[in-house]
Amino acid sequence: VTKRSVSPFDGLYALPGFPLTLLTVGQNVLTVVSFHYYSHKPPSVMVGIRPDNYSFKLLQEKRVFAVNLLRRDMVEVARQCGTITGRTQDKFARVGLTRAPATKIDGVLVAECPVSLECSVVHEVDFPSTHHWFVGKIEAAHVDDAYLREHALLYWMSEFRGVGELLLKDTSL
Ligand SMILES: Cc1cc2nc3c(=O)[nH]c(=O)nc-3n(C[C@H](O)[C@H](O)[C@H](O)COP(=O)(O)O)c2cc1C
Repeated sequence: VTKRSVSPFDGLYALPGFPLTLLTVGQNVLTVVSFHYYSHKPPSVMVGIRPDNYSFKLLQEKRVFAVNLLRRDMVEVARQCGTITGRTQDKFARVGLTRAPATKIDGVLVAECPVSLECSVVHEVDFPSTHHWFVGKIEAAHVDDAYLREHALLYWMSEFRGVGELLLKDTSL
């Protein structure tokens, strides 16, 4: 393999994609691709939020959030929740989403999403960057019985994608 040197940004561009989520904070919802698995024990995830978003201020106040996984047929919902701000209007009503009650955190879940993870902030990454990262311990998890991993929606650098084919299920790992 012969690799050409590219800019650090183009290195990022080469990444294939990440699960696209709707993050709920308080009564608000926003689209977030900066989402990652963090640890098995305790089960935890991390999310990156831009400080100019209304949800950033809410998250700093509340210290809890929920990750709601988008399905591959929810591209339009993702685009709307990712371009409208909840600072001045009810984004749920505007986009046509339904609030479902959270069980362990002070906040709501997105009823239309097949997976919702209720999280409390246990750590913040203190590094100057475009996104401020919050590590969230999963306090409660809700999964639709009909949900399969291949139903999830992925996104990166302007491209919305589905999940690729299963190559191997290695039960030794
Ligand atoms: C596909 C997509 C992915 C996004 N990912 C993020 C993200 O990871 N972090 C973030 O802070 N904003 C992200 N955004 C932008 C926010 O969703 C957007 O600024 C939103 O309007 C903020 O809403 P709020 O002001 O109600 O918090 C994304 C937008 C789109 C369309």
